[in-house]
Amino acid sequence: MELAEHEANLLRQASAAALRAYCPYSGFAVGAAAATELGVFVGANVENASFGLTLCAERVALANAITAGAIKISLLAVAGPPDQPTGLRSPCGACRQVMVELMTPDAVLIQDNNERLPVAGLLPGAFRRPAAAAVEGI
Ligand code: THU
Repeated sequence: MELAEHEANLLRQASAAALRAYCPYSGFAVGAAAATELGVFVGANVENASFGLTLCAERVALANAITAGAIKISLLAVAGPPDQPTGLRSPCGACRQVMVELMTPDAVLIQDNNERLPVAGLLPGAFRRPAAAAVEGI
């Protein structure tokens, strides 16, 4: 499917961010770009010798947006570096959980095979912050 110009641009920014991935263990670079009311924030995967500490590109981009003060994160593009095969990168389950919480209800994921997917459908049954009343037992 054809992407809108701003969506294609976001994908290019994600792809450029993938060039800054730190992935000496997997060699699998991922870039992400989040569109917000404050502009675009990017991220790349950052691995660690203690493998479980690896940060995914998606969560790095979302954390960058949140810490800059963004509250409306409406699009997230995910891509590999330019000139690499497309269609191989898709947010993991942990990233989907974080996307559902931090992005707007109508948010869209843009993948580098030009697919647009509603974030609301990415994780059926996602855990949600319990209402205060439920936590306090009132
Ligand atoms: N990775 C991401 O950055 N995002 C995903 O959603 C899936 C996986 C990274 C983690 C690791 O550095 C590399 O890709 C291989 O799994």
